[in-house]
Amino acid sequence: MELFEALRKRRAVRDFTEQAIPDDILMKLAYAARRAPTGGNTPYRRILVVNDRKRIRLIKQVSPGILGQPTALIVIFTDLEVTRELGKLGNVCATIDAGAAAENVALAATDLHLGACFTKSYSETGVKEILNIPDGYRTEVMLQLGYPRKDQPRSMRPREGADATYHNRFAGS
Ligand SMILES: Cc1cc2nc3c(=O)[nH]c(=O)nc-3n(C[C@H](O)[C@H](O)[C@H](O)COP(=O)(O)O)c2cc1C
Repeated sequence: MELFEALRKRRAVRDFTEQAIPDDILMKLAYAARRAPTGGNTPYRRILVVNDRKRIRLIKQVSPGILGQPTALIVIFTDLEVTRELGKLGNVCATIDAGAAAENVALAATDLHLGACFTKSYSETGVKEILNIPDGYRTEVMLQLGYPRKDQPRSMRPREGADATYHNRFAGS
C-alpha cells in the first residue's frame, strides 16, 4: 500500500475479531513506533507491546476509552528522568513524540490490514499497575489493535473546523 492510500484509509477502528495478531506483525508495528522522531534525539520513549489476553481484559476494566475487545495493545510511555535532559521542553517533546509514534503505528496497522484506535481515556494508575510500569514513567497513549470486524460502524463525520488549513497567514476560524 502506498503511504497516501494508508493516509486515506486510516480511521479509528474499535471493533475487532478474535483473531490474534502474529508476533512478527506486532514487531513490525513496534518498529513503526520506533521510527518516529525524538526531540533532541533524546531516548526517553518506551514502547510496550501487550498481547496477553488476561492483561488486556484487566486494562479494559480501567479504560472507558476501550469500547471493543482488542487482541493487542501498544503502550507508548516516557522515562521522565531522561526527559530532564531536554529541560523545560522535555515533557512536551515526549508527548509530541508519542503522538508521532502512535500515528506511525496506526498507519502501519492500516497498511497491514489491521485496525487501530488511539486511546487516552484510561486510568493511568491502573494501567501502570497492570503493566508493571513503576513511578518515574508516564504513559502517553495506548493503541488498541486487532483485525477489524467487517461490519465496522461508519466513521464519525469530521466536526466543523477539523479540516481547517491556511495558506501563508491565519485567516480566522
Ligand atoms: C489523543 C487521542 C486520544 C483518543 N482517545 C480515544 C479513546 O480513549 N477511545 C476511543 O475510542 N477513541 C479515542 N481516540 C480516537 C478519536 O475519537 C478519533 O480519532 C476521532 O473520532 C476521529 O476519527 P478517525 O480517527 O476515524 O478519523 C483518540 C484520538 C486521539 C488523537
